[in-house]
Formats: sequence, structure tokens, C-alpha cells
Amino acid sequence: MARPDDNSSDRAKAVVIMAAGLGTRMRSATIKVLHPVAGRPMIDYPVQSALELGAERVVVVLGHQRERVEASLRATFPDAPLEVAVQAEQLGTAHAVLCARAALEDFDGDVFILSGDVPTLSTATIAALDAVTGDAAVGVLGMRLDDPAAYGRLVEENGRLVRITEYRDASDAIRAIDRVNVGVYRADARFLFETLGQLGSDNAQGEYYLTDIVAAAAEQGRGTACLVLDGEAAADACGVNDRVDLADAEQRMQRRLRAQLMRDGVTLIDPARVTLHAGVEVGPDTVIEPDVSLLGQTFIGPGCHIEQGCRISDSRIEHGAHIKGQSHIDQAHVGAGCQVGPFARLRVGTVLHDKVKVGNFVETKKATLEAGAKASHLSYLGDARVGPGANIGAGTITCNYDGVNKFRTDIGAGAFIGSDSQLVAPVTIGDGAFVGAGSTITQDVPADALALSRPRQANIAGWAERRRARLAAEAEAKAEAAGERKD
Ligand code: UD1
Ligand code: CA
Repeated sequence: MARPDDNSSDRAKAVVIMAAGLGTRMRSATIKVLHPVAGRPMIDYPVQSALELGAERVVVVLGHQRERVEASLRATFPDAPLEVAVQAEQLGTAHAVLCARAALEDFDGDVFILSGDVPTLSTATIAALDAVTGDAAVGVLGMRLDDPAAYGRLVEENGRLVRITEYRDASDAIRAIDRVNVGVYRADARFLFETLGQLGSDNAQGEYYLTDIVAAAAEQGRGTACLVLDGEAAADACGVNDRVDLADAEQRMQRRLRAQLMRDGVTLIDPARVTLHAGVEVGPDTVIEPDVSLLGQTFIGPGCHIEQGCRISDSRIEHGAHIKGQSHIDQAHVGAGCQVGPFARLRVGTVLHDKVKVGNFVETKKATLEAGAKASHLSYLGDARVGPGANIGAGTITCNYDGVNKFRTDIGAGAFIGSDSQLVAPVTIGDGAFVGAGSTITQDVPADALALSRPRQANIAGWAERRRARLAAEAEAKAEAAGERKD
């Protein structure tokens, strides 16, 4: 139901997204709409907008690589009212929408038509088109461009949109028009499907042009409307055709995401040097230094400090954590008040409880370090649990892999592992146990025991002194022999 302060139509909404074309100018083995912008396939953006608009049906028209595109969409939007219409041969945009007719046979209301390749277009702009279109049969989103290039031209008479003429079909006078077609529309469902069935393809490209519904509506007196964007809004409405456009869309999206974080209370010291994926969340008073990438489904709590050069993907960092420079964190959970890095690598399945310290050149994988545990230098902890307050000395390695299978290491609360130890899994170090430096541990260590596994040290008195004397004597003898030969 429409709210009183909401002037959008309260009619039922369906969305058709055109995404059957390959996107030849991308010069890619991957269909254009699967190329990512801010970490998400381009096609996700119009689908997201459709859901935000409150569409009860979303029909995606697919052709090239349709199995791949559908699989991607189903994984990202498992519960959305998404339907796929197949356009096996791309005969033009009108034909694409006609392919969605069967899916919308019993639908009565407004059909929004979006393109799969305009990721930076905001939902608010589509809602504005809805409001401007009102009772008209067709509403067209337009934009004013200094260089209108090959976009379809909006031809207006007496302030009314009467048709859209494709660049290739346009006279010089029409080409001079700088108000052009974005490729986003709202149309009355019945008018749309009746009209599409009657369109011909008598044009420069021999294609069925969706844009011809505008002339049909004007001729039938059914009413047309257009919302023409300018400036930044127009730039956001430009689609992606090649990789130059892709980079442009990426930059626009990055600026938007960074600005949102800063408005939410996050400090970005040099915003242009932070890379964000759509959906990343960061709490207030967190400081992010330059050259940081926050990727995938990443959540950073409030009051954290992320130093220069960190790459954090699909991870959760709780409040007050300090991630020092050049650390890589992937699919990990870092508890409140932890200190990580510099140069730490937390891999999949790492869980750091609160106030854990993981220092430089430490790698972890499927490792849980419980509250207050420390691994400050040069270690590998894989398939391991480190109990609360335990201390892992420099150079400790969990030997978790025998070339075939992985095994677990369990280190008890308050245990102390001396430097340069190898813990050959499966192995358990009991609570409060000590492992002497340089040990290779192959058997469980009971709680509170000391384990040593290295040869006992032997000191040979005076050995070094005698060695130096012997070497000096040998050198002297050699020099004398050389002198005699010269004489
Ligand atoms: C279209 C518009 C043009 C507008 C421009 C904006 C027409 C006739 N022209 O031209 O006025 O300025 O978009 O970018 O509509 N697609 C299909 N099946 C097809 C053809 C296209 O799914 O048979 C999809 C494409 O994958 C793409 C979108 O529709 O996502 C637009 O197609 P494209 O070929 O880029 O249209 P343009 O020629 O650029
Ligand atoms: Ca296009």
C-alpha cells in the first residue's frame, strides 16, 4: 500500500531485466552482466533495485550463458520472486521484453524495464521515474549528455515525448538532440504486451526496437512521460559497454560506498585508496588507513583500527580490534580488542576470541585462539585450538598434515610452548603444561608437565680455544712452506 507521503503509483509492480546479450565489446569469455562491480555481478544491482521497489514479480531475460547467470542469481537471491525468461536469439530489445510475456500473462499493473548492464543507477532514480510517469502508458528515463554518442534520441514535440529514434536511424537534426534514452522504462502491462506484439523491425539494424512503444503510445494518445537526468545522475545512468565503462562504474560505486561509510562515522584517511565491496559494514569511530581492501561479506565493528595495506574478506572483526599493517584476513572471526599483525595471515576458519594477540609472520587456518592467547611471532597454527591465556613461542609450527590427512592439535589453557617447537598432530598439550624450546612433540603432554624432546646439552671445556690454536698453527705452517718455494 502506498503511504500518504509517497507519490509513487500504488499499482502492482513487475520488473523485467534485459540481460540476454553477450556484451561483445567487453571482449570476454564471460557474459557482460556477470562482470563484477564492487564485488558483485552487475546483474545483482537491477535485481536489488527491483526488490527495493517492491516488485512482486521479477523476470530476468537471459540468452547467452543463461545457466551461469541463473545459477549466480539463485545463489545471491535464494528467496526472491525471480523468474527466468529465455531469449535464445537476440532479435532486439522489444523481442527481449516479449520473451517475458508468458511469465507475466496474468499480471496487471506497471512493468518496469531495466537493463542488466547499468549497475550505478540508483533505486531512487527508478522510483522518481515512477512518480513522473503517473497515469501515462509509458515513462522513459532519459539523460542529458554533452556527448550523446550513439544513444537513442528523445524526440519531443510541444514538451511531450513523441518517439525515440535510434542513432543509426537518425537524421543530423535528430542526432543534434542531447537528451537521450537511458534504456529504463515504466509501462502499463496490457499496453506494453499488446503493442510489442505489433511492432515491426523495419530499421537500420533490422531489430525489434523496444523504443518504438513510445511512438505507439503517443499516436494512440495513451500518454508518454520522461524524466531527464543531468550531471552526476546522468553519469550514474550510463551503462557499461566495455572495460573502460566498467572501470568508470567501479569508481562511481567506490565513491558512493566510501561516502556512505564516512557518513556512518568511519574515518577514511585517504578515501580514494580504500576498496570496498557492496554490503561491507563498518562501525563508527573505526579508522581505516590507505590501501585497505574490505571485501565480500565483511563486518568491522566500532572503534577498530585497520592499518595500511590490509586485505580483509568475508570476515568479522569485533569492536576495538587493531589490525596492523599488511595483514591478510579471509573467512575469519577476530574478537573484540584483538591485536593482529603486522604481516599476519588469518585464513579460513580462524577464530580469535577476545583480546588475542597474533603478531608478525603468523599464519593461522582452522585455528581457534581462546581469550587472551598469544602467538606473537613467526608461527603456523593449523587445525588447532589454543586455550585461553596460552603462549605460543616464536617459530612454533603445528605439523597438521602428513601428506594425506590433516590432524588436530589441542593446546590447553595457560600452556606455554617454547620457541621453535614442532607439535606433530594429532597431539594434545594439557592445561598449564610447558614445552621446552626447540622440542619436537609427538606424544600428548599431560597438564602441568614439562615436555622436552631434544638431546641434552654437553659443554666441552676449552674446545674452542684449542681449535683456534690448531687453525693458527696450520696457517703458519702453510705460509712458511710458500716462503721456502719462493726462495
Ligand atoms: C538501447 C536503446 C537505446 C538506448 C540504449 C541505452 C533500443 C532499440 N535502443 O540501445 O535507445 O539509448 O539502449 O543503452 O532499445 N538485450 C537483450 N536482447 C536483445 C537485445 C538487447 O536482452 O535482443 C539487452 C542487452 O543485453 C542489454 C540491453 O538489452 O542489456 C540493451 O541492449 P543494447 O544492445 O545494448 O541496446 P542498444 O543498442 O545500446
Ligand atoms: Ca547498450
